Amino acid sequence: MLRNVIVEALMSAKTRFAELKGSDEAYKELGIGAGGDVMRLLDFELEKVIVESVTKDLGDFTLVSEESGVKECGKGEYVVVVDPLDGSTNALRGYPACSTAIAIAKGGCLEDVVAAGVINLVTGDLYYAEKGLGAYMNNSKIKPRNISKVEEALIAFELNVRGQINGYVSRIAEIIEKARHVRLIGSDALEICFIASGTSDAFIDLRGFLRAPDFAASTFILKEAGGVVTDAYGNMLNCKLDPKARSTIIAACTMELHRNIVSRLREIKER
Ligand code: IPD
Ligand code: CA
Repeated sequence: MLRNVIVEALMSAKTRFAELKGSDEAYKELGIGAGGDVMRLLDFELEKVIVESVTKDLGDFTLVSEESGVKECGKGEYVVVVDPLDGSTNALRGYPACSTAIAIAKGGCLEDVVAAGVINLVTGDLYYAEKGLGAYMNNSKIKPRNISKVEEALIAFELNVRGQINGYVSRIAEIIEKARHVRLIGSDALEICFIASGTSDAFIDLRGFLRAPDFAASTFILKEAGGVVTDAYGNMLNCKLDPKARSTIIAACTMELHRNIVSRLREIKER
C-alpha cells in the first residue's frame, strides 16, 4: 500500500515537472522555503501535486517538506518527508539531473522511515524501498557493487561549498586523486540512489549542508539495498525528521569501502 502512495505521488511530480520545466513562470521566486532556500513556483507546484496525491491515497498525515516545513494534514500516524525538487539549480539551468524524494515514517526520526522513493525527473527512473523488503529500480531488485578500495571505486563528491568552507577541497583532495573515477551531478538524492543500484560506489559530502528532506529517502533506499551510510565521522545517521536538521554524509556500496574512506579522512585530519 505504501508503495502505491509513493509511486503515484512521484509520478504526479514527474508529470508536473514536464509541464512546467523551461517555462519562465516555473522559476519565479515565491519566497524562502522552510529549509532556508529560495522557493520557486516549480518547487511549490511539485509539492502541491505530491500533497494532493498522498492525501488521496493515505488520508491524514504530518508533512515535513523542504518548502512548507512541518504541516499537519489531518491526524494520521504517518510522517511524510518530501523534497519536491532536489537539484533546483540543475532544473533552472537545464543541466539534466534532478529528482523528487519522498520518505514515509512511523515516527519523528530518520530511523522511523518505513518506505521511500526517489524519481529521476529527467530519465523517469524510479527507486523504491520498503523496510525489510530490499530496494528496487523500476521494479527490478537492485544491490550495490562489491568494491572495497578507493582506488577501484567510482566516487561522487560534493564540492558545492559556495565560498562558505575554507580549505574544503584540500580535506578530500587525496581521495579525489586516488579514486578510480570521480563524479558530481548536483542532485544528491540521485547520487545516493546511484550507489544502491551499482551505478556508482560512494558519495562523500563533508559540508553538513544537506537537510533531512534531502537525504531521508535516498539513505533509506541505500540501506535497504545493502549499502552503508553514516556521517563524516562514521556515526549512524539518526537525526530528527525536521526540515532544518542537517548532516554530513559518507555513503558507500560496502562496509570495507566505507571504512577505507572514513579512515583516510581521519588520517588526513590528524596530519
Ligand atoms: C541540492 C542538491 C545539490 C547540493 C545542494 C542541495 P536542492 O538540493 O542536492 O546537489 O549541492 O546542497 O541543497 O537545494 O536543489 O533541493
Ligand atoms: Ca529542494
